[in-house]
Amino acid sequence: MRFDTIPTRPIDGQKPGTSGLRKTTQVFKQPGFLENFIQSIWDGIDGAAGKTFVVGGDGRHFNAEAIQTVVRMAAASSAARVIIGQNGLLSTPAASNLIRKRGADGGIILSASHNPGGPDGDFGVKYNIANGGPAPEAVSTAIYAATQVISEYKIAPTNDIDLSQIGETSLGQTAVEVIDPIADYAALMADLFDFTAIRDMFTTGFTLRFDAMHAVTGPYAKAILEDQLGAQPGSVVNGTPSEDFGKGHPDPNPIWAKALVDVMMGEDAPDFGAASDGDGDRNMIMGRGIYVTPSDSLAALAANATCVPAYAGGLSGVARSMPTSAAVDRVASALGIQSHETPTGWKFFGNLMDADHVTLCGEESAGTGSNHIREKDGLWAVLFWLNILAHRKSSVAKIMQDHWETYGRNYYSRHDYEGVEVEAANGLMAMLRAQLPKLAGQTFGGLVVTKSDEFSYDDPVDGSHTSGQGIRIFFEGGARCVFRLSGTGTVGATLRVYLERLDTEVLGLDAQEALSSVIQAANEVAEIMTRTGRSAPDVIS
Ligand code: G1P
Ligand code: ZN
Repeated sequence: MRFDTIPTRPIDGQKPGTSGLRKTTQVFKQPGFLENFIQSIWDGIDGAAGKTFVVGGDGRHFNAEAIQTVVRMAAASSAARVIIGQNGLLSTPAASNLIRKRGADGGIILSASHNPGGPDGDFGVKYNIANGGPAPEAVSTAIYAATQVISEYKIAPTNDIDLSQIGETSLGQTAVEVIDPIADYAALMADLFDFTAIRDMFTTGFTLRFDAMHAVTGPYAKAILEDQLGAQPGSVVNGTPSEDFGKGHPDPNPIWAKALVDVMMGEDAPDFGAASDGDGDRNMIMGRGIYVTPSDSLAALAANATCVPAYAGGLSGVARSMPTSAAVDRVASALGIQSHETPTGWKFFGNLMDADHVTLCGEESAGTGSNHIREKDGLWAVLFWLNILAHRKSSVAKIMQDHWETYGRNYYSRHDYEGVEVEAANGLMAMLRAQLPKLAGQTFGGLVVTKSDEFSYDDPVDGSHTSGQGIRIFFEGGARCVFRLSGTGTVGATLRVYLERLDTEVLGLDAQEALSSVIQAANEVAEIMTRTGRSAPDVIS
């Protein structure tokens, strides 16, 4: 078999962020761009020779073409095997599971997660390591270093392989295996959860609406929720993956999944509602008449974990990203288990799970997961909730009310300012940083600052240090605001403002109302309006 070596040169802007390399689809489709990055991955991991890789994506525009390129490049670099989801599809959690189950050396996941897809949308490439999780700092740094010195890439100039046929072929020395993307994942879920109890609940008339947002979880949700567990046919909506997600924005939050919110808040709402994102790792949880924030959902899962067979023996600990609310910390302290606070991004949870410091972890951005894989997992969170509901024979609203009565309520909201001028956003952060030493004792929005800092993290497992992870300002009475710039946006800068306030008595307020003084304090201290030129956030979640 012939392999070509194509001369190339470093391309600007190939720095992988918290979830790999994310760019507009147009950028990825430039001749040689994807090839450049894939070769840099091989170079950053000491070559692909003799290694096994799992490859799949969320089905967005350019997914199948990109997979053909990855396979040709794996063959040209003498990989032992590539394992590909049929039709190029693999949800991120299913890919993580396959990497672990098949003992692969790594995986390449093609997705820009919840960002819109299509020719004018976004595309992304993520490299996961042998534990099934996103490349940790050291690996992504090595890949980035390779992008800076690349001079050639290797590719096999072969015909496309048939991604629609399950089975095995070969390309040079490389075995190319196309597999059912759902079977292994569905089997894992059946191992973790009490499927009998959930099935019984559906038999007695329990109703569900799962919005797959035209993204990758549709086939998984139909197979598991409808076919295996007996949810009414049609419970899964928008269940056929489309390459531009039905021109939608596959981000499961109250803004982008408004259609689901409207149904769940309406007269004929089903008992349970949920949605997942482009690549299937995020989740949104709703009950009839109630939206559960991701931070609250994590806390509720931790508090009720022993309902689930896989966690019946208790949790070793929990972890949350720093901007996630402290609700889960309160559960951890009641359970007497450790709780960890990590920087934003799933990769920081991997070490903690590998070392069995934590069983459950989550982020405010709709990511929840456990040590069953090394990625967040949207359908897993849905099944976890269904398992709890089946055991407690209670409603989502009642479970959350009980939760707040027991632990107090961490009112929470995130305000995003998108497409802000990069200089203005950096200026705002620099101004806050300069203020840090003198904020304590000052009053903003009627709240007195107790302390403030810029979050940094020392990994307790590998000792690595990560700095510059967001500015935190704490106020008297347990309120907090956090400022961070997004690492996943593709246009301008996105300023994220995370707002939180603990209340142990008044539990039924609207979140924005409960947080009004923290919102005002955040605006005052960071001069958000004047510096961004915006009078309101673009997205409130
Ligand atoms: C966002 C979320 C973060 C998540 C990441 C990848 O990153 O905020 O929690 O890990 O997407 O899904 P950000 O854009 O804030 O850097
Ligand atoms: Zn995602």
